[in-house]
Amino acid sequence: MAAASGPAACAPWRPAFQSHICKMPSPEFVFSTVARNEQGRCVPRARYCGFRGFFGELQLHQEAEKELKQQEKEHDKDAPTNPPVFESDMPTITTDVRMEKVENVASSGGAVEAVFWIKEVMTQWRIKGKAFVIGGSPEEKEEREAREEVKKGMRMRDAGGTAVGGEWSWEREITMYFANHTPVMRGSFKYPPPGRPKSEVQSDQTLHMGEDVYDLHDPVARKHFRVVVIRPEEVERLDLSQYGNPKRWKWVFVDADEVGDKGTVVKEDGQRGRWQEIEIWP
Ligand SMILES: Cc1cc2nc3c(=O)[nH]c(=O)nc-3n(C[C@H](O)[C@H](O)[C@H](O)COP(=O)(O)O)c2cc1C
Repeated sequence: MAAASGPAACAPWRPAFQSHICKMPSPEFVFSTVARNEQGRCVPRARYCGFRGFFGELQLHQEAEKELKQQEKEHDKDAPTNPPVFESDMPTITTDVRMEKVENVASSGGAVEAVFWIKEVMTQWRIKGKAFVIGGSPEEKEEREAREEVKKGMRMRDAGGTAVGGEWSWEREITMYFANHTPVMRGSFKYPPPGRPKSEVQSDQTLHMGEDVYDLHDPVARKHFRVVVIRPEEVERLDLSQYGNPKRWKWVFVDADEVGDKGTVVKEDGQRGRWQEIEIWP
C-alpha cells in the first residue's frame, strides 16, 4: 500500500479517550446510524457494538496469532500478520454485511455517532463522523472507495522514517480482525440472515447456527464479515466526575480547506487538517 495520507499527529482527545477505554472491563458503545423509514423520512437507529480498537493498531490475541501463523502460509507467502507500520484515531467495529447498520451507513453517506459511557471515570464520549465498511472484494468499486477514505485517516507510526517489517495489505488486516474473534463468534457469520423472520423458508444450506469456524478463510463466513471504520469529525467529552462541577469539551476536525491558514495546515490528498479544541458549557 502507498503511504497513508492521514493527519500528521495523534488527535488531542486520543490520549484521554484511550486511557478511559482501558478502564472498561469490556469496551462496548452505542453505535448510531441514520435510516429512512417507509415514508422516506430520516430516522435514527442505535445498537450496542464492541469496540475493536483503532484501525491499523489491532491487538491480536495470542490464540489468533497462533492460528494466523498456522494457516496463513497457504494464503500468504510473505507473512501471517501485517507489520505495525500504521496508526490512526479511527475506532472500529466488526459486523455482518447483512445487518441493517451496513445499509444505513451506505445510504446516509456514512453519518454515524458512537457514544461511550465510561462509568469507571464518570465520563461520556461522543464521536461523530463518517463510517466506512471494508472487507468486501477489492474488485468492487465500493470497497476500493471505502479503503481510499480509510487511508485518509491513517498515518505512519514512524512518521518520516522508514517502515520496517514488510508489505502491509488490506486483505491481511481484515483477516487479522476475523482471526481475533473466537471460533463461536466466527460461526455467527454463517447464521441465516440476521433480522429476517425464522418462519421464512431457508433455501441456502450453507447458513446455519452452531458451527465453530476455525478456517480463517471460510468462504461463507468471510463473505459476510466486515470491519466498520469510523473516521471522527467531532468528538465530545462530558466529565461528570466532580459532583456539581461538570466539564465538557469539544474537538472539531477542521479540514485544511476550511482553515485557510497556510502556516499551520498542510493539505495533501484531501484529509489533512487539524483538531480545534473548545471548552463548552456543560
Ligand atoms: C454488548 C453487545 C455487543 C455487541 N457487539 C456487536 C458488534 O460488535 N457488532 C455487531 O454487528 N453487533 C453487535 N451487537 C449486536 C447489535 O447490538 C445488533 O443487535 C445487531 O448488530 C443488529 O443490528 P442492526 O440490524 O441495526 O445492524 C452487540 C450487542 C450487544 C448487546
